[in-house]
Amino acid sequence: MSTIQVQDEQGVRIIRFNRPDKRNALDLDMYKQLTEYLIQGEADNEIRAFLLTGSENCFTSGNDVADFLKQPDLGPNHPAVRFLFCLLELKKPLVAAVSGAAVGIGTTLLLHCDLVYADNTAQFRLPFIDLALVPEAGSSLLLPELVGYQKASELLLLGESFDAETALDLKLINRMLSPVELFPYALEKAKALASKPPQALQLTRQLMRPHKSRVQHQMHQELELFGQRLQSDEAKAVFRQFLNKG
Ligand code: COA
Repeated sequence: MSTIQVQDEQGVRIIRFNRPDKRNALDLDMYKQLTEYLIQGEADNEIRAFLLTGSENCFTSGNDVADFLKQPDLGPNHPAVRFLFCLLELKKPLVAAVSGAAVGIGTTLLLHCDLVYADNTAQFRLPFIDLALVPEAGSSLLLPELVGYQKASELLLLGESFDAETALDLKLINRMLSPVELFPYALEKAKALASKPPQALQLTRQLMRPHKSRVQHQMHQELELFGQRLQSDEAKAVFRQFLNKG
C-alpha cells in the first residue's frame, strides 16, 4: 500500500499520509510523492483545491527521525526542501484535516494552508528545540506573526504541545470538530473552494499573502541553520535516543 494515497473528487485532490506503523512519519519518498501530486494537481485544470489529511488518529509525527541521522544536504533538491517550497508556491488553495498527532512539519505546514480543521483528538507540537534543531517552513516568522511573540515562545522555545481548543484560540485552526465530522466537513469546505471562479480565487490568495518573499527568505535562513544543527553532536544524540527508545 502506498505511503501517500491520492484521490480526486469533484475538483478536490485529496492527499492522505498513510504510514500508520510509523505514525505517518514523513520519509524522503513520501516528500517526493507529496510534491509530485501537488505539482500535477497545479497543472490539472480539473483540480481546483487540495485537501491534506492523515489517518484516523494521526495526522503526522513529522519528519522521519531516522532520515535526520543520515545528515542530508538540505540543498534545493532535497525532497523535504522541495516540498516546503512547493507549499509556499502553491497557487491553488490547500485545506487540512487534522486528527491525532501533528508534530513538527505536521504543525508548521498548517501555517501554509488556507483552511485548517481539526478534531478534538488533535495534539500539536513543535519539538525542534528538544531535538536540538531550529524551526522550519517559515514557522519562526509565521508563528510569532500569527500568535504573538510570547505565545510563540511557549511553542518554539519551550516546545509545549497544545490541543485543538488551544489551536482554535491561537487561530491556527478554523474549527474544531468531532472525529466523525472532521473529514466530511473539511471535504465540503474544499469542494466549496473548488467551486469558486478559479482565477479570482488564485488572485485573492496571492493578495492575501503579500509577505511571501519574506517567508521565502526566512525559510532559506532556517534551512541553513537546520542543516548545521543536523550535524551537531547534541542533535545526533537526541535522534539516537529517540530511535533506541531512550
Ligand atoms: N520518525 C521516525 N519514526 C517515528 C516517528 C518519527 N517522527 N514518530 C514515530 N515513529 C515510530 C516510532 O519509532 C515507533 O516505531 P517502532 O514501532 O518501530 O518502535 C512507531 O513509530 C510508533 O511510535 P510511538 O512513539 O510508539 O507511538 P505513540 O502513539 O506512542 O506516539 C507520537 C506518537 C507521534 C506522539 C510519537 O511517536 C512522537 O513523539 N514521535 C516523534 C515526533 C518527532 O519528534 N518528530 C520530529 C519532528 S521534527
